[in-house]
Amino acid sequence: MINTEQVKNPAECTAAELAAIFQIDEFEHAARARLDPMAFAYFVGGAGRELTLERNRAAWDALSIWYRVMVDVSRRSTATTLLDLPLSFPLLAAPTALHKMAHPEGELATVRACGEAGIPMVLSSLSTTSVEEVCAAATAPVLFQMYIGPDRGFVRELVNRVERAGCRAIQLTVDAPVWGLREREMRSGFHVPPHLRIVNLERIDPQGATGPTGHTGVGISETLGWTISPNLSWKDLEWLCSLTTLPVIVKGLCRADDALTAVRSGARGIVVSNHGGRQLDGAPSTADALPRIAQAVASRVPVIVDGGIRQGVDILRALALGATAVQIGRPILWGLACAGQPGVKRVIDILASDFDRSMALAGCATVAAVTRDLLRPSEA
Ligand code: FNR
Ligand code: LAC
Repeated sequence: MINTEQVKNPAECTAAELAAIFQIDEFEHAARARLDPMAFAYFVGGAGRELTLERNRAAWDALSIWYRVMVDVSRRSTATTLLDLPLSFPLLAAPTALHKMAHPEGELATVRACGEAGIPMVLSSLSTTSVEEVCAAATAPVLFQMYIGPDRGFVRELVNRVERAGCRAIQLTVDAPVWGLREREMRSGFHVPPHLRIVNLERIDPQGATGPTGHTGVGISETLGWTISPNLSWKDLEWLCSLTTLPVIVKGLCRADDALTAVRSGARGIVVSNHGGRQLDGAPSTADALPRIAQAVASRVPVIVDGGIRQGVDILRALALGATAVQIGRPILWGLACAGQPGVKRVIDILASDFDRSMALAGCATVAAVTRDLLRPSEA
Protein backbone atom coordinates (compact mmCIF):
# COMPACT_ATOMS: atom_id res chain seq x y z
CA MET A 1 0.00 0.00 0.00
CA ILE A 2 1.29 3.47 -0.85
CA ASN A 3 1.92 5.66 2.15
CA THR A 4 0.54 8.91 0.80
CA GLU A 5 2.19 10.85 3.63
CA GLN A 6 5.56 10.00 2.10
CA VAL A 7 4.74 10.66 -1.53
CA LYS A 8 6.26 14.00 -2.47
CA ASN A 9 4.16 16.11 -4.75
CA PRO A 10 6.07 15.58 -8.03
CA ALA A 11 5.10 19.03 -9.16
CA GLU A 12 6.84 20.81 -6.29
CA CYS A 13 9.33 23.49 -7.31
CA THR A 14 12.96 22.46 -6.96
CA ALA A 15 15.46 24.56 -5.03
CA ALA A 16 16.87 25.84 -8.33
CA GLU A 17 13.41 26.80 -9.57
CA LEU A 18 12.68 28.63 -6.31
CA ALA A 19 15.95 30.53 -6.53
CA ALA A 20 14.98 31.68 -10.04
CA ILE A 21 11.76 33.32 -8.78
CA PHE A 22 12.13 37.00 -7.90
CA GLN A 23 8.58 38.32 -7.83
CA ILE A 24 5.58 37.27 -5.76
CA ASP A 25 3.42 37.35 -8.90
CA GLU A 26 5.58 34.60 -10.41
CA PHE A 27 4.82 32.56 -7.32
CA GLU A 28 1.12 33.06 -7.93
CA HIS A 29 1.44 31.68 -11.47
CA ALA A 30 3.54 28.74 -10.28
CA ALA A 31 1.04 28.02 -7.50
CA ARG A 32 -1.91 28.12 -9.86
CA ALA A 33 -0.30 25.42 -11.99
CA ARG A 34 0.07 23.18 -8.94
CA LEU A 35 -3.16 23.76 -7.04
CA ASP A 36 -6.50 22.10 -7.41
CA PRO A 37 -8.68 24.72 -9.22
CA MET A 38 -11.11 24.84 -6.30
CA ALA A 39 -8.32 25.60 -3.83
CA PHE A 40 -6.84 28.23 -6.14
CA ALA A 41 -10.25 29.91 -6.56
CA TYR A 42 -10.71 30.02 -2.77
CA PHE A 43 -7.25 31.42 -2.11
CA VAL A 44 -7.11 33.99 -4.91
CA GLY A 45 -10.63 35.35 -4.87
CA GLY A 46 -12.16 38.51 -3.48
CA ALA A 47 -15.74 39.50 -2.83
CA GLY A 48 -18.14 40.82 -5.47
CA ARG A 49 -16.47 42.47 -8.45
CA GLU A 50 -13.14 42.34 -6.63
CA LEU A 51 -12.83 46.14 -6.67
CA THR A 52 -11.33 46.33 -3.19
CA LEU A 53 -8.99 43.44 -3.98
CA GLU A 54 -7.66 45.40 -6.97
CA ARG A 55 -7.61 48.71 -5.07
CA ASN A 56 -5.38 47.30 -2.38
CA ARG A 57 -2.54 46.67 -4.80
CA ALA A 58 -3.08 49.69 -6.98
CA ALA A 59 -2.96 52.01 -3.96
CA TRP A 60 0.52 50.85 -2.91
CA ASP A 61 1.77 51.15 -6.50
CA ALA A 62 0.48 54.73 -6.68
CA LEU A 63 2.65 55.98 -3.80
CA SER A 64 5.85 57.56 -5.10
CA ILE A 65 8.85 57.48 -2.80
CA TRP A 66 10.82 60.70 -2.52
CA TYR A 67 14.12 59.01 -1.67
CA ARG A 68 16.89 60.73 0.25
CA VAL A 69 20.48 60.70 -1.01
CA MET A 70 23.93 60.99 0.53
CA VAL A 71 22.97 59.08 3.65
CA ASP A 72 25.42 56.48 4.93
CA VAL A 73 23.49 53.23 4.48
CA SER A 74 26.53 50.96 4.58
CA ARG A 75 25.36 49.47 7.88
CA ARG A 76 21.66 48.80 7.87
CA SER A 77 19.25 47.05 10.15
CA THR A 78 15.76 45.95 9.15
CA ALA A 79 15.03 44.60 12.63
CA THR A 80 12.12 45.93 14.63
CA THR A 81 9.70 44.98 17.41
CA LEU A 82 5.97 44.64 17.71
CA LEU A 83 4.55 44.61 21.26
CA ASP A 84 8.04 43.62 22.46
CA LEU A 85 8.20 40.70 20.01
CA PRO A 86 11.34 40.67 17.83
CA LEU A 87 10.92 40.77 14.03
CA SER A 88 13.89 40.37 11.67
CA PHE A 89 12.02 42.83 9.43
CA PRO A 90 8.54 44.36 9.74
CA LEU A 91 6.53 41.44 8.35
CA LEU A 92 4.11 38.87 9.75
CA ALA A 93 2.37 35.98 8.04
CA ALA A 94 -1.32 37.00 8.03
CA PRO A 95 -3.85 34.46 9.26
CA THR A 96 -5.18 32.39 6.37
CA ALA A 97 -7.36 29.32 6.66
CA LEU A 98 -6.78 25.75 5.47
CA HIS A 99 -3.04 25.55 4.75
CA LYS A 100 -3.27 21.80 4.10
CA MET A 101 -5.34 22.66 1.06
CA ALA A 102 -2.16 24.28 -0.31
CA HIS A 103 0.34 21.64 0.84
CA PRO A 104 0.15 18.40 2.85
CA GLU A 105 2.46 19.81 5.54
CA GLY A 106 0.14 22.77 5.91
CA GLU A 107 0.65 25.17 8.83
CA LEU A 108 3.73 23.28 10.08
CA ALA A 109 5.60 24.16 6.90
CA THR A 110 4.51 27.78 7.28
CA VAL A 111 5.49 28.15 10.93
CA ARG A 112 8.88 26.54 10.31
CA ALA A 113 9.61 28.90 7.42
CA CYS A 114 8.55 31.88 9.55
CA GLY A 115 10.86 30.64 12.30
CA GLU A 116 13.80 30.34 9.90
CA ALA A 117 13.10 33.88 8.68
CA GLY A 118 12.62 35.32 12.17
CA ILE A 119 9.09 36.64 11.63
CA PRO A 120 5.88 35.88 13.54
CA MET A 121 3.10 33.74 12.14
CA VAL A 122 -0.50 34.63 12.88
CA LEU A 123 -2.26 31.28 12.98
CA SER A 124 -5.83 31.25 11.67
CA SER A 125 -8.37 29.70 14.02
CA LEU A 126 -9.58 27.91 10.86
CA SER A 127 -6.27 26.10 10.51
CA THR A 128 -5.89 22.47 9.57
CA THR A 129 -3.20 21.90 12.23
CA SER A 130 -3.85 22.44 15.93
CA VAL A 131 -2.55 25.48 17.77
CA GLU A 132 -0.58 23.16 20.08
CA GLU A 133 1.24 21.44 17.19
CA VAL A 134 1.98 24.75 15.50
CA CYS A 135 3.38 26.32 18.68
CA ALA A 136 5.51 23.22 19.34
CA ALA A 137 7.13 23.59 15.91
CA ALA A 138 7.62 27.36 16.20
CA THR A 139 10.98 29.08 16.63
CA ALA A 140 9.52 32.58 16.27
CA PRO A 141 6.43 34.04 17.98
CA VAL A 142 2.99 32.68 17.09
CA LEU A 143 -0.08 34.89 17.36
CA PHE A 144 -3.57 33.41 17.20
CA GLN A 145 -6.38 34.83 15.06
CA MET A 146 -9.92 34.24 16.15
CA TYR A 147 -13.51 35.13 15.54
CA ILE A 148 -16.03 35.45 18.35
CA GLY A 149 -18.47 32.72 17.37
CA PRO A 150 -21.99 32.26 18.72
CA ASP A 151 -20.90 29.97 21.59
CA ARG A 152 -19.13 32.33 24.01
CA GLY A 153 -18.29 29.45 26.38
CA PHE A 154 -16.36 27.83 23.55
CA VAL A 155 -14.55 31.10 22.84
CA ARG A 156 -13.48 31.28 26.49
CA GLU A 157 -12.09 27.72 26.35
CA LEU A 158 -10.29 28.46 23.09
CA VAL A 159 -8.62 31.51 24.65
CA ASN A 160 -7.37 29.35 27.54
CA ARG A 161 -6.09 26.80 25.07
CA VAL A 162 -4.28 29.43 23.03
CA GLU A 163 -2.61 30.83 26.16
CA ARG A 164 -1.53 27.36 27.30
CA ALA A 165 -0.13 26.56 23.84
CA GLY A 166 2.19 29.59 24.11
CA CYS A 167 0.72 32.10 21.65
CA ARG A 168 1.97 35.65 22.25
CA ALA A 169 -1.09 37.67 21.23
CA ILE A 170 -4.59 37.32 19.81
CA GLN A 171 -5.80 38.93 16.60
CA LEU A 172 -9.57 39.31 16.81
CA THR A 173 -11.04 39.63 13.33
CA VAL A 174 -14.02 41.97 13.30
CA ASP A 175 -14.78 42.50 9.61
CA ALA A 176 -16.87 39.36 9.26
CA PRO A 177 -20.34 39.69 10.84
CA VAL A 178 -21.31 37.60 7.80
CA TRP A 179 -19.09 36.21 5.05
CA GLY A 180 -18.53 38.14 1.86
CA LEU A 181 -19.77 36.50 -1.32
CA ARG A 182 -16.75 35.33 -3.27
CA GLU A 183 -18.08 34.44 -6.66
CA ARG A 184 -15.04 32.49 -7.85
CA GLU A 185 -15.35 30.35 -4.76
CA MET A 186 -19.04 29.67 -5.45
CA ARG A 187 -18.44 28.85 -9.11
CA SER A 188 -15.66 26.42 -8.21
CA GLY A 189 -17.95 24.66 -5.71
CA PHE A 190 -15.70 25.44 -2.75
CA HIS A 191 -16.01 23.02 0.16
CA VAL A 192 -13.70 21.88 2.92
CA PRO A 193 -12.07 18.72 1.50
CA PRO A 194 -13.30 15.72 3.49
CA HIS A 195 -9.79 14.66 4.61
CA LEU A 196 -9.18 18.04 6.28
CA ARG A 197 -10.33 19.14 9.72
CA ILE A 198 -10.77 22.60 11.23
CA VAL A 199 -9.08 21.19 14.30
CA ASN A 200 -9.11 24.16 16.69
CA LEU A 201 -12.87 24.48 16.49
CA GLU A 202 -13.83 20.84 16.88
CA ARG A 203 -15.92 19.99 19.88
CA ILE A 204 -18.49 17.62 21.25
CA ASP A 205 -21.66 18.30 19.32
CA PRO A 206 -25.07 18.33 21.05
CA GLN A 207 -25.67 14.72 19.96
CA GLY A 208 -22.55 13.72 21.83
CA ALA A 209 -20.38 12.79 18.87
CA THR A 210 -16.96 14.41 18.62
CA GLY A 211 -15.96 15.90 15.35
CA PRO A 212 -16.08 18.97 13.23
CA THR A 213 -19.12 21.15 13.47
CA GLY A 214 -20.62 21.51 10.02
CA HIS A 215 -18.15 21.43 7.17
CA THR A 216 -20.87 20.59 4.69
CA GLY A 217 -22.22 22.78 1.92
CA VAL A 218 -20.74 24.91 -0.80
CA GLY A 219 -19.09 28.30 -0.36
CA ILE A 220 -17.74 29.74 2.84
CA SER A 221 -21.15 30.92 4.13
CA GLU A 222 -22.48 27.38 4.18
CA THR A 223 -19.32 25.56 5.22
CA LEU A 224 -18.01 27.97 7.84
CA GLY A 225 -20.99 30.16 8.73
CA TRP A 226 -21.02 28.63 12.23
CA THR A 227 -17.63 30.13 13.08
CA ILE A 228 -18.76 33.80 13.17
CA SER A 229 -21.59 35.83 14.74
CA PRO A 230 -23.49 38.81 13.36
CA ASN A 231 -24.36 40.31 16.77
CA LEU A 232 -20.97 41.51 18.02
CA SER A 233 -20.46 44.89 19.64
CA TRP A 234 -17.55 46.67 21.35
CA LYS A 235 -18.72 45.06 24.60
CA ASP A 236 -17.56 41.72 23.17
CA LEU A 237 -14.07 43.14 22.66
CA GLU A 238 -14.03 44.35 26.29
CA TRP A 239 -15.19 40.89 27.33
CA LEU A 240 -12.46 39.15 25.30
CA CYS A 241 -9.79 41.45 26.76
CA SER A 242 -11.06 40.66 30.25
CA LEU A 243 -10.56 36.93 29.64
CA THR A 244 -6.88 37.04 28.89
CA THR A 245 -3.57 38.62 29.76
CA LEU A 246 -2.49 38.28 26.14
CA PRO A 247 -2.59 41.49 24.10
CA VAL A 248 -5.67 41.58 21.86
CA ILE A 249 -5.08 43.15 18.45
CA VAL A 250 -8.21 44.07 16.49
CA LYS A 251 -8.07 43.11 12.81
CA GLY A 252 -10.22 44.42 10.00
CA LEU A 253 -10.68 48.18 10.53
CA CYS A 254 -10.71 50.99 7.99
CA ARG A 255 -12.04 53.92 10.09
CA ALA A 256 -10.22 56.16 12.56
CA ASP A 257 -13.28 56.38 14.85
CA ASP A 258 -13.48 52.59 15.04
CA ALA A 259 -9.76 52.39 15.79
CA LEU A 260 -10.15 54.85 18.68
CA THR A 261 -13.12 52.91 20.07
CA ALA A 262 -11.14 49.68 19.75
CA VAL A 263 -8.28 51.19 21.79
CA ARG A 264 -10.73 52.49 24.41
CA SER A 265 -12.26 48.99 24.57
CA GLY A 266 -8.91 47.40 25.36
CA ALA A 267 -7.22 46.73 22.01
CA ARG A 268 -3.43 46.71 22.28
CA GLY A 269 -2.96 46.92 18.51
CA ILE A 270 -4.88 47.50 15.27
CA VAL A 271 -4.70 45.71 11.94
CA VAL A 272 -5.89 47.95 9.13
CA SER A 273 -7.34 45.31 6.84
CA ASN A 274 -10.25 44.60 4.52
CA HIS A 275 -9.61 40.86 4.70
CA GLY A 276 -7.72 40.94 1.42
CA GLY A 277 -10.79 42.31 -0.41
CA ARG A 278 -12.84 39.28 0.63
CA GLN A 279 -15.52 40.98 2.71
CA LEU A 280 -17.12 44.32 1.71
CA ASP A 281 -16.37 44.95 -1.95
CA GLY A 282 -16.15 48.72 -2.26
CA ALA A 283 -14.22 49.17 0.99
CA PRO A 284 -11.25 51.53 0.69
CA SER A 285 -7.78 50.23 -0.02
CA THR A 286 -5.77 49.69 3.12
CA ALA A 287 -3.14 52.19 1.92
CA ASP A 288 -5.92 54.81 1.91
CA ALA A 289 -7.22 53.84 5.36
CA LEU A 290 -3.84 53.42 7.08
CA PRO A 291 -2.63 57.04 7.51
CA ARG A 292 -5.96 58.18 8.97
CA ILE A 293 -5.90 55.40 11.55
CA ALA A 294 -2.19 55.82 12.31
CA GLN A 295 -2.73 59.53 12.90
CA ALA A 296 -5.77 58.95 15.11
CA VAL A 297 -4.15 56.38 17.39
CA ALA A 298 -0.92 58.41 17.39
CA SER A 299 1.50 55.76 18.65
CA ARG A 300 -0.76 54.67 21.53
CA VAL A 301 -0.77 51.17 20.05
CA PRO A 302 1.03 49.65 17.08
CA VAL A 303 -0.78 49.70 13.74
CA ILE A 304 -0.31 46.78 11.35
CA VAL A 305 -1.63 46.77 7.79
CA ASP A 306 -2.39 44.04 5.28
CA GLY A 307 -3.81 43.78 1.77
CA GLY A 308 -1.91 43.76 -1.50
CA ILE A 309 1.61 43.91 -0.07
CA ARG A 310 3.64 42.18 -2.80
CA GLN A 311 7.07 43.83 -2.76
CA GLY A 312 9.57 44.93 -0.14
CA VAL A 313 9.04 48.49 -1.30
CA ASP A 314 5.36 48.20 -0.27
CA ILE A 315 6.57 47.57 3.29
CA LEU A 316 8.59 50.79 3.09
CA ARG A 317 5.46 52.62 1.86
CA ALA A 318 3.36 51.20 4.70
CA LEU A 319 5.91 52.22 7.33
CA ALA A 320 6.08 55.71 5.85
CA LEU A 321 2.28 55.91 6.27
CA GLY A 322 2.59 55.06 9.95
CA ALA A 323 2.50 51.26 10.15
CA THR A 324 4.73 49.37 12.59
CA ALA A 325 4.61 46.22 10.45
CA VAL A 326 2.70 44.62 7.58
CA GLN A 327 1.14 41.23 6.99
CA ILE A 328 0.93 39.11 3.84
CA GLY A 329 -1.83 36.60 3.20
CA ARG A 330 -1.91 35.10 -0.29
CA PRO A 331 1.86 35.22 -0.97
CA ILE A 332 2.44 32.75 1.87
CA LEU A 333 -0.14 30.40 0.34
CA TRP A 334 1.55 30.63 -3.07
CA GLY A 335 4.93 29.73 -1.59
CA LEU A 336 3.37 26.88 0.35
CA ALA A 337 1.62 25.49 -2.73
CA CYS A 338 4.83 25.64 -4.77
CA ALA A 339 7.20 23.93 -2.35
CA GLY A 340 6.04 23.77 1.28
CA GLN A 341 8.49 25.20 3.82
CA PRO A 342 11.24 26.21 1.32
CA GLY A 343 8.59 27.86 -0.85
CA VAL A 344 7.29 29.99 2.04
CA LYS A 345 10.86 30.79 3.04
CA ARG A 346 11.66 31.97 -0.49
CA VAL A 347 8.59 34.25 -0.51
CA ILE A 348 9.68 35.82 2.77
CA ASP A 349 13.31 36.10 1.62
CA ILE A 350 12.28 37.93 -1.57
CA LEU A 351 10.40 40.50 0.51
CA ALA A 352 13.19 40.75 3.11
CA SER A 353 15.92 41.47 0.58
CA ASP A 354 13.70 43.83 -1.42
CA PHE A 355 12.82 45.73 1.77
CA ASP A 356 16.48 46.00 2.75
CA ARG A 357 17.43 47.23 -0.73
CA SER A 358 14.53 49.69 -0.79
CA MET A 359 15.58 51.10 2.58
CA ALA A 360 19.09 51.67 1.25
CA LEU A 361 17.88 53.27 -1.99
CA ALA A 362 15.51 55.55 -0.05
CA GLY A 363 18.32 56.65 2.28
CA CYS A 364 17.21 54.80 5.41
CA ALA A 365 19.67 52.83 7.52
CA THR A 366 17.09 51.78 10.11
CA VAL A 367 13.37 51.13 10.26
CA ALA A 368 12.99 54.24 12.44
CA ALA A 369 14.39 56.33 9.58
CA VAL A 370 11.42 55.41 7.37
CA THR A 371 9.34 58.52 7.95
CA ARG A 372 6.28 60.14 6.45
CA ASP A 373 8.26 62.72 4.45
CA LEU A 374 9.43 59.92 2.12
CA LEU A 375 5.94 60.13 0.61
CA ARG A 376 5.24 63.85 1.13
CA PRO A 377 8.45 65.88 1.10
CA SER A 378 8.06 69.47 2.21
CA GLU A 379 8.04 72.03 -0.59
CA ALA A 380 10.80 74.04 1.11
C1 FNR B 1 -7.74 35.15 4.57
N1 FNR B 1 -7.83 36.06 5.60
C2 FNR B 1 -8.19 35.63 6.86
N2 FNR B 1 -8.28 36.52 7.87
C3 FNR B 1 -8.59 36.10 9.12
O1 FNR B 1 -8.65 36.92 10.03
N3 FNR B 1 -8.81 34.77 9.37
C4 FNR B 1 -8.76 33.82 8.40
O2 FNR B 1 -8.95 32.64 8.64
C5 FNR B 1 -8.47 34.26 7.08
N4 FNR B 1 -8.43 33.38 6.06
C6 FNR B 1 -8.06 33.79 4.82
C7 FNR B 1 -7.97 32.87 3.80
C8 FNR B 1 -7.52 33.26 2.54
C9 FNR B 1 -7.40 32.24 1.46
C10 FNR B 1 -7.17 34.62 2.32
C11 FNR B 1 -6.67 35.06 0.97
C12 FNR B 1 -7.29 35.54 3.31
C13 FNR B 1 -7.43 37.48 5.40
C14 FNR B 1 -5.93 37.66 5.66
O3 FNR B 1 -5.63 37.54 7.02
C15 FNR B 1 -5.42 39.02 5.21
O4 FNR B 1 -6.21 40.04 5.77
C16 FNR B 1 -5.38 39.18 3.68
O5 FNR B 1 -5.05 37.97 3.06
C17 FNR B 1 -4.36 40.23 3.30
O6 FNR B 1 -4.37 40.45 1.93
P1 FNR B 1 -3.33 39.78 0.88
O7 FNR B 1 -1.95 39.87 1.48
O8 FNR B 1 -3.79 38.38 0.67
O9 FNR B 1 -3.51 40.66 -0.31
C1 LAC C 1 -11.70 33.69 4.54
C2 LAC C 1 -11.93 33.41 5.99
C3 LAC C 1 -11.68 32.06 6.42
O1 LAC C 1 -11.40 34.83 4.20
O2 LAC C 1 -11.37 34.34 6.82
O3 LAC C 1 -11.85 32.77 3.71
